[in-house]
Amino acid sequence: MAKLRIVVVGAGQVSRELAPAWQRTGHDILHVVSRTAESAQPLGELLGCSWSTNLSEAAGALRDAEVVVIAVTDGLISEISTAITNMISPSCLMVHVSGATPLDHLRAPCAVIWPIRSFNPKADKVPLANTPTVLEASEEKSMVLARLLASAWDADVSEVSGTQRAAAHMAAAVADNFANHMFAEAQNLLDQRGLPKTLLRNLVLGLTQGGLQGDSRERQTGPARRGDEATLARHRALLPEDVRELYDTVTAHIIHRHSS
Ligand SMILES: NC(=O)c1ccc[n+]([C@@H]2O[C@H](COP(=O)([O-])OP(=O)(O)OC[C@H]3O[C@@H](n4cnc5c(N)ncnc54)[C@H](OP(=O)(O)O)[C@@H]3O)[C@@H](O)[C@H]2O)c1
Repeated sequence: MAKLRIVVVGAGQVSRELAPAWQRTGHDILHVVSRTAESAQPLGELLGCSWSTNLSEAAGALRDAEVVVIAVTDGLISEISTAITNMISPSCLMVHVSGATPLDHLRAPCAVIWPIRSFNPKADKVPLANTPTVLEASEEKSMVLARLLASAWDADVSEVSGTQRAAAHMAAAVADNFANHMFAEAQNLLDQRGLPKTLLRNLVLGLTQGGLQGDSRERQTGPARRGDEATLARHRALLPEDVRELYDTVTAHIIHRHSS
């Protein structure tokens, strides 16, 4: 397997998992550059490479890099791409790891490697291995390198167009962000009545199975699915006003989806 010389820009939640995975599979992390020493230093020390807090200090490593991974807040990707374009070799592959940011925010040759997973301090038990990962590249040569980088976590890879990636990101927001929000609201409702917030924990198993097998629609249950008006009315009477509108909107949507 080809060994790549990589510079990582941004030492946040995603870099802290992906950079060690690349190192474990034999790639050479030359340097980590981030906004502050609080994030750059621990990652640099973990990887045993140099680190810095500004691009000019990273100049030597950037010049040598075959791949630069820009893993910063989405709104800064384009700015960093522009700032480093003249610091890297013309053949150096620029990568970002954002689901939502267009590929043309990078200069070519470039690729997106978007692992569809939530990276946050509470997600440390979710394995990186086999994570479904979306790849998009400016041309085949870049796609070859993107595949190689994603193989560091044996990614379950989908190679997509920009439009498909935007749709996948939208779907991920509906599934993960909305489902999590619903659980947060439900836990709040339980808490307000003095009930344990973990009371619904086994319901997660069914949700997970639907997510894993792609058959969530067939698993829908509940009063909206059954058209049970009496139970819906009892729920509405119990709901705090700021959740009632959400309940009504989702209920109407479930009824509509399952009416045909
Ligand atoms: N988190 C997720 O669940 C997830 C999942 C898939 C993809 N992504 C994508 O991964 C990328 C990074 O997200 P993240 O969650 O890792 O973000 P994050 O934890 O907020 O980390 C961003 C890092 O960028 C650094 N940074 C900010 N401005 C910088 C600059 N001008 N120069 C160099 N470094 C700078 C920050 O430094 P300081 O730490 O010093 O502030 C921080 O270490 C984003 O494109 C995001 O869309 C995130």
